[in-house]
Amino acid sequence: MLTDTHTHLDASQFNEDREEMIQRAWDVGVTRIVNVGFNRETIPTTMELAEKYDFIYAIVGWHPQDAKDMLPGDLEWIEELSKHEKVVAIGEIGLDYHWDTSPKDVQNRVFREQIRLAKKIGKPIVIHNREAHHDIIEVLREEKAAEVGGIMHCFSGSWDTAKMCLDMNFYISFGGPVTFKNAKQPKEVLAQVPLDRLLIETDAPYLTPHPNRGMRNESSYVKLVAEAAAEIRGMSLEELAQVTTNNAIRLLGLR
Ligand code: NI
Repeated sequence: MLTDTHTHLDASQFNEDREEMIQRAWDVGVTRIVNVGFNRETIPTTMELAEKYDFIYAIVGWHPQDAKDMLPGDLEWIEELSKHEKVVAIGEIGLDYHWDTSPKDVQNRVFREQIRLAKKIGKPIVIHNREAHHDIIEVLREEKAAEVGGIMHCFSGSWDTAKMCLDMNFYISFGGPVTFKNAKQPKEVLAQVPLDRLLIETDAPYLTPHPNRGMRNESSYVKLVAEAAAEIRGMSLEELAQVTTNNAIRLLGLR
């Protein structure tokens, strides 16, 4: 009973074999998948997947890399979609200082607008954070994001940053990097996160776990993430899968 809490199965990398790939996830025990639509192109395709498959849910929002493309009306569009029964959170939103494809002040504004929207509609938020730990924490604090909480997706920060996020009612989600030999910090944080705040994800088609690193990622590989996480926590795979699935159900209101 595994849950992939963050993935992009509508990506073009799956155009040739999407149905088979989704079936493979189901076959290894992935009973819940949460797909993230994050811009004008991927929000509609995410909604299609969530409507087609019972066990696929949707998260919709505007990615910081695409912040400069957000037009008047887009926030209202997201608000409207958020009323759909399969839309479980607003995301992925945040700050990305690595690619820097949108100016920082625009990213900041779009991030804040969506936190306010999430608070208005009462749904959790999913945070994308790339080389912006300090500013992310500052915005979450100033906007009182603790009121809705959410998920720090594919967490790569320090334990100190993780603690600040936990204090603001966030869950910490780990992906493929925890299976990498050299990924010391995420493993150290994973070892310490309270069990009732732990989530796992793939972020497919990106961040493929070991031993498939270098190939396309897919939701069935969340099992590899679960195995690595179980080993770090000294738990069985079954226990780890159960705990993380229960967490996802509780936070996101999955069936
Ligand atoms: Ni993502």
